[in-house]
Amino acid sequence: MKKIVILISGRGSNMQAIVEAKLPLRIAAVIGNKPDAEGLAYAQAQGIATAVVDHRPHATREAFDAELMRCIDAYAPDLVVLAGFMRILSEGFVLHYSGRLINIHPSLLPAFPGLATHRRALEAGVKIHGCTVHFVTPVVDHGPIVVQAAVPVQSDDTAQSLAARVLQQEHQIYPQA
Ligand code: GAR
Repeated sequence: MKKIVILISGRGSNMQAIVEAKLPLRIAAVIGNKPDAEGLAYAQAQGIATAVVDHRPHATREAFDAELMRCIDAYAPDLVVLAGFMRILSEGFVLHYSGRLINIHPSLLPAFPGLATHRRALEAGVKIHGCTVHFVTPVVDHGPIVVQAAVPVQSDDTAQSLAARVLQQEHQIYPQA
């Protein structure tokens, strides 16, 4: 059975969707970069191994990434799944997991890479918004697209209401990917 490791920074609802999908794979570990990432408690309650690699004590991005790689590689995963992992990863890290590192992003890439995607989508006046699962390459929020889902933008949407509509789709497409 294939093994995955999931990386989170906070709530972890996409990680939870993957767990609840009961896919034919083993979730070897959920790793957070913040000790208080809410999703870690959920994973623990499910009996999944958890670990924290705190980015704050590391002087450089490369030092943090090296520590994170050591932690991930101890589980020998087939696939590393970024699920709301809010750290930019160094080129060395990305190349180390080339072809087995995927991310979910809350926009229809290549539109709106980066942060605040829902606010920027509203400001741009797009009528369709959504989410993307893609392989990670050294260019942030680029890389081959695996699956996307679109949602309509409504005239009375706020960033919050749009985010909630997109998040429902994220929970569908990430397990599918
Ligand atoms: C999700 O909307 C995910 O697409 C986004 O953060 C949220 C995490 O929610 N990821 C990014 O913006 C990555 N750049 P979750 O912790 O509940 O899964």
